[in-house]
Amino acid sequence: MGAEVVIEGLSKSFGKQAIWRDVTLTLPPGEVSAMLGPSGTGKSVFLKSMIGLLKPDRGRCMINGVDIVTCSEHQLYEVRKLFGVLFQDGALFGSMNLYDNVAFPLREHTKKSETEVRRIVLEKLEMTGLNGADKKLPGEISGGMRKRAGLARALVLDPQIILVDEPDSGLDPVRTTYISQLFLDVNAQIDATFLIVTHNINLARTVPDNLGMLFRKELVMFGPREVLLTSEEPVVKQFLNGKMDGPIGMSEEKDSAQLAAERAMFEAGHHAGGVEDVSGVPPQMQPTPGVPTRMGAVRRKDRVMQILHGLPHEAQQSIIESLSPEEQQRYGVRSERLATAGHRSAPTDTSIPNHHQGQLPDDQVAHIPHPGRPGNHRLRPHDPGSGGA
Ligand SMILES: Nc1ncnc2c1ncn2[C@@H]1O[C@H](COP(=O)(O)OP(=O)(O)OP(=O)(O)O)[C@@H](O)[C@H]1O
Ligand SMILES: [Mg+2]
Repeated sequence: MGAEVVIEGLSKSFGKQAIWRDVTLTLPPGEVSAMLGPSGTGKSVFLKSMIGLLKPDRGRCMINGVDIVTCSEHQLYEVRKLFGVLFQDGALFGSMNLYDNVAFPLREHTKKSETEVRRIVLEKLEMTGLNGADKKLPGEISGGMRKRAGLARALVLDPQIILVDEPDSGLDPVRTTYISQLFLDVNAQIDATFLIVTHNINLARTVPDNLGMLFRKELVMFGPREVLLTSEEPVVKQFLNGKMDGPIGMSEEKDSAQLAAERAMFEAGHHAGGVEDVSGVPPQMQPTPGVPTRMGAVRRKDRVMQILHGLPHEAQQSIIESLSPEEQQRYGVRSERLATAGHRSAPTDTSIPNHHQGQLPDDQVAHIPHPGRPGNHRLRPHDPGSGGA
């Protein structure tokens, strides 16, 4: 099973420039999580901090019990072997063919014989649909193939955690979906914990189990995909819809004067751009038929049902609606919307027998930063949005 990553109060700055502060979240083992956020909010810095390429100022990042913020160089070297990282451009060595690129981590970090290396490299090339391309140089293949080669290389050390930075950059929408499918298939096959950093709304809405967003130097929220996808938080809605109308500006943050001026412009009919309306929770992509069941998804179901009552109402309903009738029965829940639509008119009861109904665990709590308000606002159960501090 993939490693659990527990991040607590992590902060990073460069000199006087704070990038993000007090980031707290848990990547559940073997689940696929994605992190959204406007350009420049520090998503790449976040990934680099997770593998110890950058050193956070404060906080902890625990991987299999080792805090990579404070551990020794030697421990960090060992922990890094648990990671497979797919950089934005594939980061392949231009002078090496795909075979040698993919073999590189094995030759560098293990004492495997060349026969063993060959077996593993060919297996990963096949897994990523690159058989027959092993002799090609990175400059001789398409962007999509380079991405897949980067993924093949990220997979050779049997990683427990896979980090992916902007997988869609340079890819057309169809190839982006193919690489998304590949992530889910790989996740099903090796049960690694995934964190994907992306701007791609299609991917964010249909691929991950969990979604988070960085904005204004804070983690706006992180939790089951249904929470972010049904959120009424203006910054989340604006990001998902890609409109100019909202708190995100060309430089990261709008001030209140700019917000008001733009509001007036959009109210007067100026097109705010973006798609008409992206809302709701579309079905999640599944592994290709024939690929094993995603164990991360199976565990997630139980995990999410345990925290169901701490989630905002809309998210609860979406989660319940994603369950089969048998599962709804097993968990003792029923969809309100289906009930009120006339399907069996039993009273709505979303309680889960024998499960805790208390407070959200800390890693499930969303942080909603508010302009002009000191400190954090913490989302409490049954309080899906603004509210008091
Ligand atoms: N090594 C560094 N030294 C100083 N500042 C840095 C360094 N790396 C990143 N930054 C700054 O940190 C901020 C966040 O950068 P980062 O690359 O993480 O953004 P991002 O969210 O990944 O953006 P994008 O979506 O455009 O990729 C930027 O202001 C950047 O200039
Ligand atoms: Mg980046």
